[in-house]
Amino acid sequence: MELTTSADRFRATCSTARQEGSIVGFVPTMGALHQGHGRLVAAARRECGFVALSIFVNPFQFGAGEDFSSYPRRLEQDSAVAASLGCDVLFVPEERSMYPQGRPTVTVDPGPLGERLEGRSRPGHFRGVLTVVAKLLNLAGHGRAYFGEKDAQQLVLVRRMVEDLDIPVEVVAVPVVREIDGLALSSRNVRLSMQEREAAPALFDALTIAAQLARAGERDANVLRAQMARRIGAEPIAKLDYVAIVDDATWEDLVTIEGPARALVAARFGSTRLIDNVLLPWEPSPAAVQNTSSDEERR
Ligand code: PAJ
Repeated sequence: MELTTSADRFRATCSTARQEGSIVGFVPTMGALHQGHGRLVAAARRECGFVALSIFVNPFQFGAGEDFSSYPRRLEQDSAVAASLGCDVLFVPEERSMYPQGRPTVTVDPGPLGERLEGRSRPGHFRGVLTVVAKLLNLAGHGRAYFGEKDAQQLVLVRRMVEDLDIPVEVVAVPVVREIDGLALSSRNVRLSMQEREAAPALFDALTIAAQLARAGERDANVLRAQMARRIGAEPIAKLDYVAIVDDATWEDLVTIEGPARALVAARFGSTRLIDNVLLPWEPSPAAVQNTSSDEERR
């Protein structure tokens, strides 16, 4: 595996791989690699002849008072992990080479969805994310880029950016990787105290409650929201930020669940903020099922 801090070198390496006939699979990360990142690399490895991984803790997606300075950084360990996962190139740019003039003045506007949910709790976050992702995708060039469903709002905004700005990249979504008790893997989990770690599966419990209600036929999104908030509220050390039920295509808040919907939750455990989400089980109404089966009978 080649390790480079140079953007020019990274661009050239990816470009050479393409000239040699490989599909370039790119996995952007902020490091402190775990099995969630590993799943993204594994998907890229399966589908692409050349796999590129980047590690860059992007200052402009962290707000004032957020954890930019304390974000876990472990380059040595990460580069061993990247090599063992079969990456071909590891790109670790320095801040001054990504942003030679400091905060960029031309940035990617995430649109209205960038102001909601995570964007509301973290003003400017998605502008920072999309700007750095645009830069990284421009360097990696034509190919596939892998993103986790763990950050579902980030994923949908990256998809919209790629579509709206005609970036020649196919975005591939990878399901959430979880611990045995349901906690979604995250670089921030290492900062949980033992007590916080024990409380943190409340997030997935809340999502599971929403999924069970949806499976049982509950269509009132407010009932799901209330039950999710109740589950988080039952955990004394958890501080709820938001629960949401959104249409999985439009990301509008739902009143009534009438198609594929997503449940999302964000909460603070001590100084660590965690997020998670699931796609709710969705089955067509009994009337629609009846119609399909009678159609089949007719055939
Ligand atoms: P980071 O938090 O390091 O995550 C990198 C990628 O790994 C993201 O696409 C994220 O959704 C995915 N990921 C993280 N935990 C996961 C899990 N448990 N299961 C599946 N996928 C998981 O997201 C970022 O970095 C940054 O915002 C970035 C896109 C790199 C831009 O700076």
